[in-house]
Amino acid sequence: MSIDFPYPIPSGWFPVVAGADLDAGAARRLQAFDRELVLFRTESGEAAVLDAYCPHLGAHLGVGGKVEGEALRCPFHGWRFGSDGGCLEVPYAKRIPPAARARSYPTCERNGFVWAWYDPDARAPFFDIPTIPQVGSPGWVETFRRTWRIRSQIQEMGENGADSAHFPAVHGSAAVPPSEAKNDGAHRRAIQYTEVDTSRGRAKNVIEVNSFGLGLGYTHFTGICETISLNCMLPIDAETTDLTVVFLQPAGTEDRGIARAICRDLERQVGEDIPIWEHKRYLKRPVLCDGDGPIADYRRWCLQFYPGFTDA
Ligand code: FES
Ligand SMILES: [Fe+2]
Repeated sequence: MSIDFPYPIPSGWFPVVAGADLDAGAARRLQAFDRELVLFRTESGEAAVLDAYCPHLGAHLGVGGKVEGEALRCPFHGWRFGSDGGCLEVPYAKRIPPAARARSYPTCERNGFVWAWYDPDARAPFFDIPTIPQVGSPGWVETFRRTWRIRSQIQEMGENGADSAHFPAVHGSAAVPPSEAKNDGAHRRAIQYTEVDTSRGRAKNVIEVNSFGLGLGYTHFTGICETISLNCMLPIDAETTDLTVVFLQPAGTEDRGIARAICRDLERQVGEDIPIWEHKRYLKRPVLCDGDGPIADYRRWCLQFYPGFTDA
């Protein structure tokens, strides 16, 4: 079956909140995956995501729902649900109806974010989000964090990395950077070689991007100033994506002018991409040329995140 644009929400792990922004005992409404959801953290610290509408009479569990211990109590008639979505208590009934269950989304907490697993067919996770060693390490400091809400589809934004030929036109790079990419299941590793002019002459940079599904891109820049960038993408609906970018730099380098200049430059690049993403249209059969980056290869890799589809 062939996919029509806008694509459905892909399978994968997606960042639903920064871990520090969700206190134990907190519950809130979450709009993501083209659905209404409730996000909460139990008293013991486990983060959970459930479909928002209570299976009893449809109250929104994220609007007035209260965490009690390891469970969430619905604001309407007080039914209590565990983090797996199962109903634990109906305060005024002798028997809990077997169908009293809210769909739950597997979660994990890594690299400073709570990640929720979404799959259109509710299949179990088929890959992992890795722990990135620099995040939280005393040798590295966070030097930048910002979230943009962008009217674009998550796969379109990810295609930016494979699209080497846009770097001179959009970002002012001196030339189209040579690149190579390798796919290994849900993991894709792409390397680009760039050269930049600095006050001390021409410097070589290597940019290694590791993608784990469409929700996390982890970029390691080496060369004039080592920088890690986490690109965390959450599909809100089929045509809206939240992009959170975090930069890390080695402790002790972050006050150097060059380190700050790199952060400013990378932030500027996102700003340059956004108007293109928000106004372009997806072409299923683009006219590509020999100088383009591995765009077709990227699209083939993406297909695995759309169960049931065999052609992009
Ligand atoms: S609607 Fe949730 S308990 Fe009734
Ligand atoms: Fe770009």
